[in-house]
Amino acid sequence: MATVVDVQHLEKRYGSFTAVEDVTFSVDEGEIYGILGPNGAGKTTTVECLQGLRRADGGELRVLGHDPLTDAEQLRRHIGSQLQESALPDRMKVWEALDLFSSLVPEGPPWPTVMEEWGLGSKREAKFGNLSGGQQQRLFVALAVVNAPRLVFFDEMTTGLDPMSRRVTWDLVRKVREQGTTVVLVTHFMDEAEELCDRIAVINDQRVVAIDTPGGLIRRFGGRATVTFSTDAVDLGFLHSIEEVDGVSREGRRVTVSGHGAVLASVAAGLVGHGIKPVDLASHRASLEDVFLTITGVEE
Ligand SMILES: Nc1ncnc2c1ncn2[C@@H]1O[C@H](COP(=O)(O)OP(=O)(O)OP(=O)(O)O)[C@@H](O)[C@H]1O
Ligand SMILES: [Mg+2]
Repeated sequence: MATVVDVQHLEKRYGSFTAVEDVTFSVDEGEIYGILGPNGAGKTTTVECLQGLRRADGGELRVLGHDPLTDAEQLRRHIGSQLQESALPDRMKVWEALDLFSSLVPEGPPWPTVMEEWGLGSKREAKFGNLSGGQQQRLFVALAVVNAPRLVFFDEMTTGLDPMSRRVTWDLVRKVREQGTTVVLVTHFMDEAEELCDRIAVINDQRVVAIDTPGGLIRRFGGRATVTFSTDAVDLGFLHSIEEVDGVSREGRRVTVSGHGAVLASVAAGLVGHGIKPVDLASHRASLEDVFLTITGVEE
């Protein structure tokens, strides 16, 4: 399978501040590739360097076989990118935006085709400022693919959208991929990454800390479970002798047990064996969100 993005040890500084310290990953053709990380991790800086919008201070970058800085002109014909909301004037009409963007890349399909294909026909005359957030996002997707790119970058595309519009936007991203375009998707949202991405690079503190499929990340970092219950019992020392138990913490009556494997069954058996029958015994298996919190160390 062809590699469309290859980043090795990307480094980017703003003055003395290091925004990206060591970012390495590669994206295969046809993937939806997620870049996930907390605020300020260096995600946007990374994708801006890949698009030739910023000059890297170190590392090797290849995008569709090009060096993004020296071949910026060539590359721009083959990549698409979602705009920031403020990038279009409020009074610009939908068709004018499509017309303008397609005029920059003459080899793309005619813009009316793109407009119909992305469900914007009924909004043709609408002004950008009067579109709903979801409709603006739809327009941004259409503008990103107006040059029939091989690769698109979407950065935080569902921030601020209601749950319904987010789902519609996810469908648009899938449709972009179905058309054969590779997608690099920057997001904060675990559910979005889990739903859409084939693989995810987790960036934390300016470096890549994990790369895997969503399921792989959960298996690798989230094989753990948490068991909670409430009790008045004073001595819970026996929990520590259960093989699957990794830790026990307590706040008043509330007990939290972290463990792995069949920890729920073993804790339940242990409790019952000691005459303790909590009515609120519950267990929680790791989700991608827990994995993210574990990897980035935001919680723990
Ligand atoms: N032009 C700039 N000049 C100076 N510092 C910058 C500049 N752009 C970004 N930074 C800093 O670099 C770091 C990484 O920023 P970046 O925008 O890449 O993070 P991000 O992962 O996209 O965050 P977010 O999730 O908030 O969008 C941040 O600390 C940010 O303040
Ligand atoms: Mg960002």
